Amino acid sequence: MCGIVGYIGDKSPVEVIMAGLHRLEYRGYDSAGVAVVGAGKLDCVKSLGKLKELDRKLEEHPLHGNLGIGHTRWATHGAPSEVNSHPHFDKAKEIAVVHNGIIENYQELRAALQAEGVQFRSQTDTETIAHLVRKYYQGDLFAAVKRALQDVEGAYAIGVICKDEPEVLVAARHGSPLIVGLGENEAFIASDVPAIMKYTRKVLYIDNGQVCRITRDGYKIEDIHGNPVQLEVKTVDWDDAAAEKEGYPHFMLKEIHQQANVIRNTLRGRVHEGSDEVNLPDMNISVEELKGCEKIVIVACGTAWHAGMVGKYLIEKFAKVPVELDLASEYRYRDPIVPPHTIMIPVSQSGETADTLEAIRIAKTRGAKVASIVNVVGSSVARESHGVIYQHAGPEIGVASTKAYTSQCTAFALFTIWLAEVRGVMGKAQAREMIAHLREIPEKIQWILDNQEDIKRCAADPKYRDAQSALYLGRGYNFPSALEGALKLKEISYIHAEGYAAGEMKHGPIALVTNELPVVCVAVNGDTYDKMVSNIQEIRARSGIVLSVATVGNEAIRPHSEDVFYVPECFEPFSPIVVAVPLQLFAYYVAANRGCDVDQPRNLAKSVTVE
Ligand code: F6R
Repeated sequence: MCGIVGYIGDKSPVEVIMAGLHRLEYRGYDSAGVAVVGAGKLDCVKSLGKLKELDRKLEEHPLHGNLGIGHTRWATHGAPSEVNSHPHFDKAKEIAVVHNGIIENYQELRAALQAEGVQFRSQTDTETIAHLVRKYYQGDLFAAVKRALQDVEGAYAIGVICKDEPEVLVAARHGSPLIVGLGENEAFIASDVPAIMKYTRKVLYIDNGQVCRITRDGYKIEDIHGNPVQLEVKTVDWDDAAAEKEGYPHFMLKEIHQQANVIRNTLRGRVHEGSDEVNLPDMNISVEELKGCEKIVIVACGTAWHAGMVGKYLIEKFAKVPVELDLASEYRYRDPIVPPHTIMIPVSQSGETADTLEAIRIAKTRGAKVASIVNVVGSSVARESHGVIYQHAGPEIGVASTKAYTSQCTAFALFTIWLAEVRGVMGKAQAREMIAHLREIPEKIQWILDNQEDIKRCAADPKYRDAQSALYLGRGYNFPSALEGALKLKEISYIHAEGYAAGEMKHGPIALVTNELPVVCVAVNGDTYDKMVSNIQEIRARSGIVLSVATVGNEAIRPHSEDVFYVPECFEPFSPIVVAVPLQLFAYYVAANRGCDVDQPRNLAKSVTVE
């Protein structure tokens, strides 16, 4: 998804912007560009492809000044190309705009501008903003941007600069993320915190409908109609090193290895040793609302939806509340019934996923209480929800979600215990036991991280590494593990992989089993273990290559399996949090061995801010 960085101050804008854009690479992009105001002119360099290409062009054509904006584009309107890449300009190339989002009425705006004689250079929706700002410009960029945005419908985060105002950076947002960073005699704009962490921790989270006029020593915020707005300056406590790889070849591998600590962070302050109580004050749900809740709706996309499935199984089993789980993209278009006393739990790492946001808006207008599970603090999902459980997983840079998934599952476990206790369906002793199980998870994850030899060996084995496709099977609590394991493998290694409930195997997928098909079977100890073994035998009988995930000490599964990944004994309802780790590692090493771009898989974006 597009990334924006802007700078005003004494440093080289190109250096700051390029460093920031590199930090935003995780968002996914296909082209990039930078524009700088200096020495009475506005100049720009753009390129198709990776940022190193833009770096190369900037060496040939350096840009100097004190004010600049840059952008990484992920195409929505018009193919990836240099002409469609941002910044976009007015006719005289005196005003430059970078934009993330989609202008929904851009065709009408474009037609109206064309009727006024404006000629467009690109196929983008963004270019309309540049021409609109020019149309309303009368020597005050801030005023012109506010006026232009009154004509615009849709989602945007924008940065705008003008040749004639070398000391002013204007930024605005509606629906797409944007922050302003405040430094000493300098200021920044960016789509996300990692882009500017190196320079400042003081941040303004610009809200929907707000426009900000930024100079090196101050800022002013108004809504698009000119009403003043006050925003609190927040101090970001993310560790700068978190945005670097810390010696790992890829962010994804680093993030997999962070998971023992991430789970500790998700639990931190919410449960205490020997305690039977969970503390989730930010969820902003009263005891009465929890007691009166008749239905829970979980909405999410992709991996977060798999975490939602773990949540559904936990909540129904232990808190005895019916749970509806839906893909946000389906929920928003299917006219859902929201009975009174419904709590919606959206799940989103980025907090900016367009479909999830829209599902929230629909549920809110139909009367649901919305409490979300979110990683990014201050994100749109967090702000549009009544309450939140922050995951505290830290920035996730690799496009494939890993630590966000396990922390989302952990957040669901916490919520389940809280809900069950409040509703009187779980006693103190059981709550204490469940909390103790949760607190053991980090060391179980650490054990897997310390014992990766079999995973690495298998990932290098041609029968897995070079497979055309793979099947993942699981039952009960580990059905979502099968879905998530398959998603991890397919999205980063490009091996076609499907996750199935093992009980569904005879209803279709068994037809795929041959001596060339790896079938990953999650068969950890628990209620469904025997059933999984039967499925495994059926696959072996058809010569399928069984790769089992089993509990340490289970030697009996070896004769039925080509290979086994062991995980420590675990309370079955929480086992998906542990089982995820070998499946992530396996996908990672297979993809790395196939030479894939693990952190930025093709066609994928980290933060899906358009539907
Ligand atoms: C897969 C993955 C995606 C995201 C999905 C939702 O590894 O990362 O499937 O889970 O795009 O994103 P968030 O959680 O940001 O709403």
